[in-house]
Amino acid sequence: MAEVVVLFLTLCVQLLALPLYILSFLGIWQPFCKKIFFPFFLEKFTADYNQKMLQRKQDLFHNMMDFSDPSGKLTVLEIGTGTGSNFQFFPPNCRVICTDPNPHFQERLAKSMARNKHLEYGQFITTSGEDLSQVPDASVDVVVSTLVLCSVKNMKAVLREVCRVLKSGGAYYFLEHVTADHSSWTFFWQQVYSPTWRLLFDGCNLTRETWADIEKANFSEIKLQHIQVPLCWTVIQPHIIGYAVK
Ligand SMILES: C[S@@+](CC[C@H](N)C(=O)[O-])C[C@H]1O[C@@H](n2cnc3c(N)ncnc32)[C@H](O)[C@@H]1O
Repeated sequence: MAEVVVLFLTLCVQLLALPLYILSFLGIWQPFCKKIFFPFFLEKFTADYNQKMLQRKQDLFHNMMDFSDPSGKLTVLEIGTGTGSNFQFFPPNCRVICTDPNPHFQERLAKSMARNKHLEYGQFITTSGEDLSQVPDASVDVVVSTLVLCSVKNMKAVLREVCRVLKSGGAYYFLEHVTADHSSWTFFWQQVYSPTWRLLFDGCNLTRETWADIEKANFSEIKLQHIQVPLCWTVIQPHIIGYAVK
């Protein structure tokens, strides 16, 4: 019975969003979303998100220097950098390599870089997390992804690449929204909104059990916490936060 209600409400949401589906069918929405809507939306969203997550992000990234190389230098690779919302939390003088498959964040990314002069920036690589082939094996001390694994096409391939580029003893920091408890109303609404949400927000999935993939990847140690984030959209409140050591 619950499945029938979910299906009915999913169709109602899709009907309300019919213009979006038509634009998508005509091939107009995806390029517009990547070039204009999503960069604009992300800038507004992350300003609010960073305010609500200030303490959490500070706590998450506070020990990054523990993973620096013997000379005290830290090289960080960020996948799905977007507008560069994490730069303010990275320690001074670390070198950051930014990657994202969407090249249309450049202007906003440049603004974040100008605001965060305490970092040294490497080359921006336009690539997905599934293909970090431009980054040599065992070449970075830390990899970071926040709100990215919900959108990747192949999570196992991304985590394989993360393990490949990390030095032995290096760390992968993550902060990701995930599926809710399957007996909760949040999960009910996640299922209802899922197809339209994915279309609207550039491939973002609401119901991923991301922690299971991180646990199955080849890390030697994982510190992972399930948390609820006080965002107005309940469907993205369940999060995981932590880091995994290679
Ligand atoms: C919600 S935004 C988060 C951006 C940024 N990490 C933050 O926390 O503000 C999701 C980001 O993931 C990127 N993305 C989508 N698919 C990806 C993939 N397969 N590999 C890496 N990044 C991807 C998007 O282009 C976008 O920049």
